[in-house]
Amino acid sequence: MYPPAQHVFVCITQRPPTAGASCGAAGSRLLMDKLQALLLEHDLSGRVRVNGSTCLGPCESGINLVVYPDAVFYQRVTEQDLREIVEQHLVAGRPVERLRVASLV
Ligand code: FES
Repeated sequence: MYPPAQHVFVCITQRPPTAGASCGAAGSRLLMDKLQALLLEHDLSGRVRVNGSTCLGPCESGINLVVYPDAVFYQRVTEQDLREIVEQHLVAGRPVERLRVASLV
């Protein structure tokens, strides 16, 4: 399906440790690979697209990812959180509130 119904952007910015925190240094490329595998497992790869992104802003709170068009921003995401994000948010349409960053607007 194109365009996809949902798009997940995973920050894959990588900085050297001396330059501060980064999602890439925290393992976001591996996390993105595992997310893509879960999408295949749930037969979502046609409806949901995953892409790496440049810095999303709150580097100290990584690994960060954002789901569009929902505009749901998740922080401190680990591999253990991915199945919940896929099954609760991407399949059932209910964002995972415990990982979600509250909107400031
Ligand atoms: S490095 Fe990921 S949000 Fe900045």
